[in-house]
Amino acid sequence: MSLGSDIYRQQILDHYKNPRNYGELEDPTYSHIGENPMCGDEIQVDVQIDETNGTIENIAFQGDGCAISLAAASLLSEELQGENIETLQEMDRDDIIDLLGVEISPMRVKCAVLAEKVLQDGYDIYLGEKNQTKTTTED
Ligand code: FES
Repeated sequence: MSLGSDIYRQQILDHYKNPRNYGELEDPTYSHIGENPMCGDEIQVDVQIDETNGTIENIAFQGDGCAISLAAASLLSEELQGENIETLQEMDRDDIIDLLGVEISPMRVKCAVLAEKVLQDGYDIYLGEKNQTKTTTED
């Protein structure tokens, strides 16, 4: 194991044990929930957006998941704060894997992208571009 990936592994464990922005927001612009059907783990997100300019002011999440899924949610909640909502909508699985900084086996990719997909689908639903009550990583 290289030193670099060791640091990232420690970062994942740290975010898993001490997730940032864990909980819920009082008055979110949108909330959404999603599931990884491989394991049944669910994550719910709340997002507060400044609707005058699209800036993400706050993100909170809660739920159950493995170290990869919860660390990805925690890292994303930090990364996206203060960014424009377009930054979220343009993200793909490679961005999440870069953020995590470790190799992700094909089995765990759904864990890695769970929070990203829930955040993105929630915004699309808020815009009226999607209509679903729950996201799954199979979609
Ligand atoms: Fe359930 Fe990773 S094992 S989200």
